[in-house]
Amino acid sequence: MTITFPEGFDRGVASAAHQIEGGNWNNDWWAWEHAPGTACVEVSGDACDSLNRYAEDIALVRDFGFDSYRFSIEWSRIEPEDGEFSRAALDYYRRVLAACHENGIAPAVTFHHFTTPRWMAARGGWAEPEIVDRFGRFCERAVEHLGDLISLGCTINEPNVVSLLGYVMGTFPPGLADFSLYAKASEHLRDAHVRAYDVIKAGPGDFPVGLTVSMSDWWTPEGGEAGLERARAMHEDYYLDATRGNDFVGVQAYTRTRIGLDGLPMDPEPGTPIVESMNYEYWPQSLEASIRHAIDVSGAPVYVTENGIGTDDDPTRISYVTEALQGVGRCLSEGLDVRGYTYWSLLDNFEWAEGYTPRFGLVAVDRETFVRTPKPSAAWLGAIAKAGRLDP
Ligand code: BGC
Repeated sequence: MTITFPEGFDRGVASAAHQIEGGNWNNDWWAWEHAPGTACVEVSGDACDSLNRYAEDIALVRDFGFDSYRFSIEWSRIEPEDGEFSRAALDYYRRVLAACHENGIAPAVTFHHFTTPRWMAARGGWAEPEIVDRFGRFCERAVEHLGDLISLGCTINEPNVVSLLGYVMGTFPPGLADFSLYAKASEHLRDAHVRAYDVIKAGPGDFPVGLTVSMSDWWTPEGGEAGLERARAMHEDYYLDATRGNDFVGVQAYTRTRIGLDGLPMDPEPGTPIVESMNYEYWPQSLEASIRHAIDVSGAPVYVTENGIGTDDDPTRISYVTEALQGVGRCLSEGLDVRGYTYWSLLDNFEWAEGYTPRFGLVAVDRETFVRTPKPSAAWLGAIAKAGRLDP
């Protein structure tokens, strides 16, 4: 089917500070990458050197034909010590925002994308209630300085991933498997979103604000329904609930989650194609299922703030996005309030514990020289963005 995006439907690409800037040594992730015995396969190092090359990145976003660029501002640069704010770092992000506007690109800003300053992590990070005030104060300062240039605001990126991977699976900092701290971290992440939402809305600028949630298509064999509901309620609905009445909820979907009769996640189904770099199922249908569930639970309008695939096979990327967009098209044709689609990611970048091997980018980045080389999928998706239409 042909999908025509409605007037004002936002077509964008995304990134995040720690994954592209380089040299973000003052946050918990840098410490985690350098600590012995963690699951990290390599360190972030210079990343894509986007700290210096942001103008080039934004020019690419413009040349491909996208409307918006989602990126995050790095808390540990803006507030390198408790209560000590860097005017230079804030000015830096003002220049990045201004560069977006100069290129006709609407900047979508994420205030927290997985990384927490070292000083806050040392005081207990997300498990400590004071992080709600601290994060709120950071958002207040940031929006005061930057708000007039922001087009869309995401408070916290995937709080459900921060809590699950950091406090249960142990693959994100602080690397724990502790259910009582998981419960605390989840609560503080949710409260921090609520606080940040209010603070950002009260600041200068008049732009939509929301929370982005990691979501998926959930499946269980007969008899596992109750376990599935429990797991999904804990992982997704807990946060979706907190977006009721917000300007939007950001849906981020990549794959499927299979829950066994014991209520725990299962391995990929034998025979289902796998995204090798991430060792999960190739499941573009996940986006449509996630949009529907987000709307059911939250009721807020949806922006797809992330969807994509980590593959070296660019035609597979095109197939994956085509299928995912067809799901968006079905939602739109039923009148569901979906306001945008953002591809993850602009650049091949630092994929957290997996390092640089999973390549989600529309643009390849030379690991030595940082030279950017667009892949065919960049022109393909950019043309769809420009036309506002996906033909069969
Ligand atoms: C995160 C990104 C990550 C992407 C691909 C999302 O969970 O927000 O930082 O790179 O998925 O795995």
